[in-house]
Amino acid sequence: MSHPELPPGPRAPAAWQTVAWTVRPAAFLRRVHGRFGDPVTVRTYWMDEPMVLFSNPEAVREMFRLDPEVAPAGQSWEFLRPFAGPNSILVLDGEEHLRERRLIQTPFHGERMQALRSTVAELARRELQMWSGRVTTLERMRHLTLEIILRVVFGARGEREVAALREAVHDTLQSVRSMPRMLAMSLIQRDLGPHSPWGRFRLAVERFDALLLDVVARRRAEPGGDSMLAVLLDQRDDDGNPPTDRHLRDQLVALLAAGHDTSAAALAWAFERLARHPAVHARLREDDPAYLEALVKEVLRVRPALTIAPRRLREPVRIAGRSLPAGVHVAACLWLALRREDLWLEAAAFRPERWLEGAPPNPTSWIPFGGGVRRCAGAPFAEMEMREVLRAAADMKIRPVRLEPEQARRSALVVVPERGGEVLVG
Ligand code: HEM
Repeated sequence: MSHPELPPGPRAPAAWQTVAWTVRPAAFLRRVHGRFGDPVTVRTYWMDEPMVLFSNPEAVREMFRLDPEVAPAGQSWEFLRPFAGPNSILVLDGEEHLRERRLIQTPFHGERMQALRSTVAELARRELQMWSGRVTTLERMRHLTLEIILRVVFGARGEREVAALREAVHDTLQSVRSMPRMLAMSLIQRDLGPHSPWGRFRLAVERFDALLLDVVARRRAEPGGDSMLAVLLDQRDDDGNPPTDRHLRDQLVALLAAGHDTSAAALAWAFERLARHPAVHARLREDDPAYLEALVKEVLRVRPALTIAPRRLREPVRIAGRSLPAGVHVAACLWLALRREDLWLEAAAFRPERWLEGAPPNPTSWIPFGGGVRRCAGAPFAEMEMREVLRAAADMKIRPVRLEPEQARRSALVVVPERGGEVLVG
């Protein structure tokens, strides 16, 4: 569909824009913003229609306040449905989404989070203890955040259960992490035999589902424990019915899909920044909770793991005085918003102190977790996880393998350091 009335943007073909965004997301976003201003319209293979990116605070606020009936987010993640499942918070919209959101957020409340904290701290300590020499932190953080999800979210018990799930998740995520493959498969969905890409993907998901349903059955048989699954098992819908096994499966997969790569990317960036800022690392050693919180905030600001929070327009709307037609996607560009010079003093500098000294930054401009009714449901957990890993890293000796900062590249949905956040330990 052509939309002559959209804000300006690059005229290069969608294929070129997709490649540019994937290979050098930061440079691509900076360039389009520098050349076309705010808003800017981009075209990529991830979205079937053009996407209008906003980064100025007023527009972002208006976007996050749009009625979900008019600007649903689930439709932008539709390609995840074959993995996420039909009950997934990620693909639902409207009332169904809000109902699911209330359920899935139950385990993230106050004292429950406290109970999970010590397990996260122990897993982080064990992981970091093994490091020496050259370490690719992204790889290790993918391992750690998966281990945390399996034990803390799924409540997996014992080495055998964890190992079986780890292997099945690994196989399934191989397919999901490859965006082009996932997109192509969700479009084709043709089973051309067990060796075709779709056939292999289906088999991996079936194997994974069988293991998940087995975990659910075991937790039902031996209730208790303080895993998130234990809390989710106690949910009741509006009619007082307990959740079905398939519903629990979709909830676990949503927490895995949304919480694994994102946290791993954010933590790899934390190590990439920390290794190049010894003074920040020295202050981390002082064990000041306020500084630790500021450090987490600053990592998420200067290197947000997700670049956009997209919505699809079902009806024409006006955002920041601009009329936009139905059908197109609009997105808060988290990356640009968190790096605007008019909002952040020395925006590109990594300075956790900015959160502690002088006038505090406006919290509504800090949007690494998106906003409105789709704001990250796992944000309190993600921040707690980052605090515990960084606390465990306080006494480590790390330095960068190469002095120059690592550029950002896209890996599936998240933005990661191009060399995986390499550090030398010891
Ligand atoms: C540093 C790590 C993380 C970052 C940067 C992050 C960021 C985000 C963002 C930007 C969104 C979309 C918000 C929007 O569209 O406005 C989102 C959604 C979501 N996140 Fe996170 N996230 C992180 C970790 C986690 C974790 C650990 C979990 C759970 C264990 C989680 C669960 C979710 C869920 C369930 C949604 C969908 C919410 C909805 O559709 O209502 N996230 N996250």
